[in-house]
Amino acid sequence: MHYNTQTNRHGMRHDPFKAVVVPRPIGWVSTVAANGVLNLAPYSFFNAVSDKPPMVVFSSGGRKDSLRNIEHSGEFCFSLATHALRDAMNMSSAAVAPDVDEFALAGLTPANSVLVKAPRVAESPVALECRLWKIVPMPAPHGSTESFWTVVFGEVVGVYIDDRYLREGRVDVAAIRPIARLGYMDYAVVGAENIFELKRPEVSADGMSAHFNAKAWDGVYR
Ligand SMILES: Cc1cc2nc3c(=O)[nH]c(=O)nc-3n(C[C@H](O)[C@H](O)[C@H](O)COP(=O)(O)O)c2cc1C
Repeated sequence: MHYNTQTNRHGMRHDPFKAVVVPRPIGWVSTVAANGVLNLAPYSFFNAVSDKPPMVVFSSGGRKDSLRNIEHSGEFCFSLATHALRDAMNMSSAAVAPDVDEFALAGLTPANSVLVKAPRVAESPVALECRLWKIVPMPAPHGSTESFWTVVFGEVVGVYIDDRYLREGRVDVAAIRPIARLGYMDYAVVGAENIFELKRPEVSADGMSAHFNAKAWDGVYR
């Protein structure tokens, strides 16, 4: 099948777009409101977009509390959503009033970040402390003149990793079991059973061909 997104006549009950851009990491974003209330919400339009400096983005559909708080404070914190924390992550998506502390709502503990005021989720093994770089409104939906989605770019200024998940100089992602968003109400989990290694092809000296080297990875990204 093929469909044109301007008419969106895909013939299915649900737009398949989000079911085919998968898995999407979940940006579990914490912020502090102007009045000090803690805010926490998951965003699956989220990703890392560079590493020098490390930058992340997430996209807010409409003007949500996270966006408002970041506009005001210029900071946010990402905590890694794991399989063990899936219900708390989901609870933190509830559209409660801005004065509700979503850490408390989800039964989570805020832990002080080092470089930003927004706390991390203490129960999560990884956190990225972020400073706002840019807020970019996305194009208006077809047939409208008003932008609905807003992308927030943050520079990662601090990284927290629970030492228990560091093994032989690497992060043990299999033990962390991060979760990711699929389409519909579906999620995926990363575990030892679905991690595999692929080494990059090595290019010949004359640049005209490439091959795979069967030897173990030499530790160099190519
Ligand atoms: C797994 C998951 C992913 C979500 N991704 C997004 C997203 O990318 N953008 C968005 O605007 N809302 C997303 N939502 C909905 C928000 O989490 C929800 O609207 C939340 O109430 C926003 O909270 P806030 O107003 O405190 O910022 C997602 C919800 C879940 C459960």
